[in-house]
This record gives sequence, structure tokens and C-alpha cells, in this order.
Amino acid sequence: TLPTLGLYGLGTMGSALALNILDNGYPLHVSNRSANVTKDFVTEAGPLAEKLTSADSLVEMAQAMPAPRAIILMVPAGKPVDDSIEQLIPHLEPGDVIVDAGNADFNDTRRRTGELESRGLAFLGMGVSGGEEGARNGPSIMVGGTDSVWHGLKEVIDAIAAKFDGAPCAARLGPDGAGHFVKTVHNGIEYADMELIAEVYGLMRYGRDMEPAAIGEVFGGWNEGRLQSYLVEITAEVLAAKDSKTGEPAVDVILDRAGQKGTGRWTVIEALRMGQSASAIEAAVGARSWSAEKGTRKAGADILGFTRGSVDLTNEDLEAALLAGRVVAYAQGFRILKAASDEFEWSLDFATIAEVWRAGCIIRSSLLDEIASAFRGNLPEGQLIFGDDFAELLRSTMPALRKVVSAAALSGHAVPAFSAALGFLDTMSTARGTTDLIQGQRDRFGMHGFERLDTGETGQHGPWWD
Ligand code: 6PG
Repeated sequence: TLPTLGLYGLGTMGSALALNILDNGYPLHVSNRSANVTKDFVTEAGPLAEKLTSADSLVEMAQAMPAPRAIILMVPAGKPVDDSIEQLIPHLEPGDVIVDAGNADFNDTRRRTGELESRGLAFLGMGVSGGEEGARNGPSIMVGGTDSVWHGLKEVIDAIAAKFDGAPCAARLGPDGAGHFVKTVHNGIEYADMELIAEVYGLMRYGRDMEPAAIGEVFGGWNEGRLQSYLVEITAEVLAAKDSKTGEPAVDVILDRAGQKGTGRWTVIEALRMGQSASAIEAAVGARSWSAEKGTRKAGADILGFTRGSVDLTNEDLEAALLAGRVVAYAQGFRILKAASDEFEWSLDFATIAEVWRAGCIIRSSLLDEIASAFRGNLPEGQLIFGDDFAELLRSTMPALRKVVSAAALSGHAVPAFSAALGFLDTMSTARGTTDLIQGQRDRFGMHGFERLDTGETGQHGPWWD
């Protein structure tokens, strides 16, 4: 039998998810930190309110719910989640489950799962992607938790999730923090894709002197081809829009300083901690951080006086380079997932993850179906970029990627994410690199030792120590 459902936190995402649950015919209890919001929500729900029970507080909500209960938390990540759990614990009983549907740090999810399980309660860490529209009409849902707890809620989660060819974009991906980790990496890829798109925009706008609306049209056209994706689609929309106050292109009235709530950064931190480098994602996170230094950049424009010149790049060059960059962003994301899966013994299924991302989420794109197939097939060295179709795609787009990065470099346009993607591809296609010299340097200054190429002997020292 299905547990009684409750949802706490009726902000933008919470209320959209609640309406989605109601829309699918499930009765729901709701509450919010401030009770006014709950009242407004009940009014907003209109006819859907028939299956709704509202409470003035989280505890009252839990008390009004017959056991077994499943309480979905849609509150900001961090302390609000711990506070909610603490309030709930005395009112729950074995068989009840708390579902964290926010963008939690997976380390917290692992800790919370352990704490709740030790009290006989269950916890699901559920990554939800798709923004407000997704939450309302069908998000992509990435679940971490025990199999039995997942099965208890699968019916509801499948019902509210986005569908791709009829298949729900929801899955249990592994235990405890696995779902939130996959969501975090999703966001890392989101950051990289957004940055790559913004770099293309910059080259068109400031290197080719194109107007935002004209650039929007190009993106709209790309959305019909291999770059088909939600982010390219909304980019076209944003670039076409006019500011209602001034009639200027909407992008022109927006301050060029991007915020970030942490998931992109966590992706990079985890990657580095696991001895990986998700360089395109890192470049995107860094670009947002640098963007915040508006004052420094203004001073730099005056003091250093470097200029941005024009670039001789066609739409086709930019389209191909963006495709290559996007493949690198996904590939680096999956590399981090692999490292985490090994470290935490999650047995992540990369094809399933790609399938869950095919609809509902922010990084949905036509490439994901191909990525899922690639992971179901045979990938040399386990690398997405070496799969037949992707290797072919990269061979054909590489000249454009080189052209874009070099044109940008020669004309003074910052393209950190494209540069990072190119550096990664060049490194991963070079059998004999240059770290022999680094090993030599390490041995020279610190007697760190190296492995001989000819004999395979380790702990060797150079003639500088003879
Ligand atoms: C989604 C989004 C969303 C996320 C922001 C990232 O999948 O629906 O990833 O969950 O919170 O898009 O936010 P920042 O850009 O503010 O870090």
C-alpha cells in the first residue's frame, strides 16, 4: 500500500511539485514554515484542493497523517533540512520515510540516511531537475536510497516524473547519496553547457557584432539540429526577448554577474578530491566566480587595456565547436560519476542515468539518447568520447573547436570552457605526454623517483643524483 504523502516547503519548486502530485490523483498533506503561504497555496490549487489537507506546521502535518508516512521536504539545502528532520523524528514511527527533494550535498544525504536508519526510519535523497515547469509538469528524478523504500514510492514518483517515449524519467540510481550526487553532477554539466553557450554568444555579439535577436535566431535554428536541447531552446528565447521597460534587448539590461548556489562547485570539489579533473565544468564554475568581480574587471579593462577584436568564424564553426564542447561536458560528468561509483560502491548504471536525463531536466538534449546507447554498448577504456559515434563526432568537430579557440585567443575573447574542453581532448588523444619532465623535476628537487619507460622499474633516480 502507498504511504500517506506529505510535502513540506511550498516555495516555487515545492508548490509546483505538490500540484503535480495532486494532478496525478494522489491525496496530499502540505505545510510550510509560514502558514500564510500554505493558505495561499490551497487557494491557488483550486479544484485540486479537494485531495489536499493543509496544516499550520510540519509537526501538525505529520500528526495528521496516518502511518506509514512519506514526507517530502522541499526546503533549502543545509540546515533547514536538518532542522526539519529533527522536528519530525519524535512524530514518526518505523516504516515512515523522509524524502529530501532539494539540492542536497550528497555527503549530508549519506549522513542523514545513516542517522535515520539507526532510528528505524527511512530516508530517500531525491534529486529533482527541471525548474518550476519541470516540477509542475514532470521533472527528471534521481533517487538514492534502499531498494525497498524506493519500491514503496515508485508508483508516485514514476507518475509525477517526465516521460520519454512513455518511460518515466525517474530511477533509483543507488543507495543513500547516489541520487543527490547524480543531481549535483547534472548541475555541473548544466553549468558547463551554459558557459559554452554564453561563450558562443560572446563571440557572435562582440566578435561578429551581431544583435541579440539575430543570435537568438541562429540558436533557434541550431535547436532543430544536433544541438537540440532545452538550454539552446531557452537561449534563443532569452536572446529574442525585449526589455519591457526600455524596449532594449533583454540581455542588454542584465548585469553580467552570475550567481551560484553551490552544486556546480561541489561537482568540481568532488572531482578534484577523487583525483579527477572536470576541467570544462571547473572553467564554468570559475567563470561565474570571476563574473562576480565586476569591479576588478572594470579596472582591468582600463589598466590592462586589452581589446576584443573581430573573429572570422561562421555559424557552422560555432555550432560544431559547441557540439564538441557539450560532448566533453557530458563526458567529464560521467567520468566523475564513475569515480564516485567506484569509491562509494554505488554500481551506478550510466545508461540509466542518461535515460533519466532525456526529458524533464535542464540538461535534456537529443544527445542523451545517444549517450545512453553508447553506455549500453562497448566503450573503449569506458570513455564516452571513445564510443564509435562520439569519436566520429569529435573527429568531425575538432577542426571547428580548434578554430574557435584560436580565433578567440587571437582576438582577446575569453573562452575558458572551450579552452578547457580542447585541452582535455588533446590530452586524451596524446599517447606520449609531457609529464616525463614533471617526474624528472620532482626527482631532481625532491628525489621522488620515477618509473623507467624501458624496463618498467619503479623508484628510479636520474643522473642528477649520481
Ligand atoms: C534543475 C536546476 C536547479 C538548480 C539551479 C542551479 O536541475 O532544475 O539544476 O535545481 O538549483 O539551476 O542553481 P544555481 O545556478 O543558482 O547554482
